[in-house]
Amino acid sequence: MDPLEELNSFLRFPSISTQPEHATDLVSCAEWLGEKLSSIGLSASVHPTPGSPVVIAATPRDPSKRTVLIYGHYDVQPPEPLAGWTTPPFEPRVEAGRLYARGAADNKGQILAHILGVAETLREKGSLPVNLIFLIEGEEEIGSPHLADFLLDHREELACDLVAISDTAMGPGNTPAFTYALRGIAAMEVIVRGPARDLHSGLFGGAVANPATVVARLLASLHDDEGRVRIPGFYDAVRPLESWEREAAADLEKAAGGDAAIKELAGVTELFGEKGFTTLERIGARPTAEVNGIGGGYQGAGTKTVLPKEAFAKLTFRLVADQDPAVILAAAEEYLRSQTPPSVLLEVITGHSGAAYQSDPNSPDGLAARKALREAFGTEPLLLRDGGSIPIVATLKEILGVDSYLLGLANPDSQIHSPDENMLIENFLGGIRMNRILLEELARDIGG
Ligand code: BES
Ligand code: MN
Repeated sequence: MDPLEELNSFLRFPSISTQPEHATDLVSCAEWLGEKLSSIGLSASVHPTPGSPVVIAATPRDPSKRTVLIYGHYDVQPPEPLAGWTTPPFEPRVEAGRLYARGAADNKGQILAHILGVAETLREKGSLPVNLIFLIEGEEEIGSPHLADFLLDHREELACDLVAISDTAMGPGNTPAFTYALRGIAAMEVIVRGPARDLHSGLFGGAVANPATVVARLLASLHDDEGRVRIPGFYDAVRPLESWEREAAADLEKAAGGDAAIKELAGVTELFGEKGFTTLERIGARPTAEVNGIGGGYQGAGTKTVLPKEAFAKLTFRLVADQDPAVILAAAEEYLRSQTPPSVLLEVITGHSGAAYQSDPNSPDGLAARKALREAFGTEPLLLRDGGSIPIVATLKEILGVDSYLLGLANPDSQIHSPDENMLIENFLGGIRMNRILLEELARDIGG
């Protein structure tokens, strides 16, 4: 079957992990994957979990070969706001060399490129140069809440020498990139509760603390005027950038067209962030506190003179090595409590978290991965620190004891998590080539 047709079938599942009404779509998508993986000659299984199923597929284990685990995810972010899409998010469309759909780049196009690379090799050669395991989950976009337990339960089946992941992006100008650092993440929701019910703002305004105002003040207290996070201890464990990293980031910034290119991608006229760091350093190497959502009070048409009984905000902290997500969440809660007036109640709900990750781009496997990118795409890959997170990567190291190498295939303007997400078809096809070279290179790595 034509690779693009296969990708279209995969993209038609609205496998949105954060929305409970899509639970059955996640199951159907996992089953489709399981069948796909069996059909190419792997032994595949779809494992139920308390959340979305985990799909595993593997070759038989030949003890004389190394074992490579390729991780990916079949869940996607919600497509909202729908009005931002040129065509519906789950009806894939090709235009000017790009495939548009939710999940095209994050992560269906990238993981399917690996599957189709393996399929080609198996079809042509009958076997792979390594033992291969695919581990494809359906809860990455919600912080992989059930995957750590799954790894513990399947430790033997998943034992491997290294992990390869394509769930990041290429560099500026769509130059191949080897991502050696990912940020970690820690999520939290704060709810400020005031009066027992919404009140008339004329009858009570001036006498009762307004929870929406308190939320706004709390959020404003998170940063100083220069963009530094004010939570005590927030930066204590941050691993400083090495000088080669600062140089690489500066070169990259030039190659990338500097801040102008980032403004263009973001659609803003000015950038803002912590003083003392370049934009790429702020994104890749510095921790942040972000407000992802804020609400409370009247949201309908016109005005309503109301003093809301409660208000909330959803926060995530992006973390870098060696910050501990649990320590950061505790420090954040303590700080927010210290900023909350006694006139309201503050409830803090901590969400998912995952530590940051750094690999060694010069380890033998790092070099093999970089060579695969170079040969598949014809250019020396850039070394990147990415600002996004793949929380399970740190857990894979903890539980399976293995390093993960990140070979991103998404084009930098793929608009992941945004409307009109897309993947350059040449990147998808390049990913199929890259998989074949990668497995060869990784096999050679032990001379096996
Ligand atoms: N594929 C992304 C992460 C990513 C994208 C890393 C581009 C580097 C470059 C992943 O699917 C993702 O979005 N992860 C979430 C994790 C979170 C919801 C726990 C993220 O980073 O927001
Ligand atoms: Mn992803």
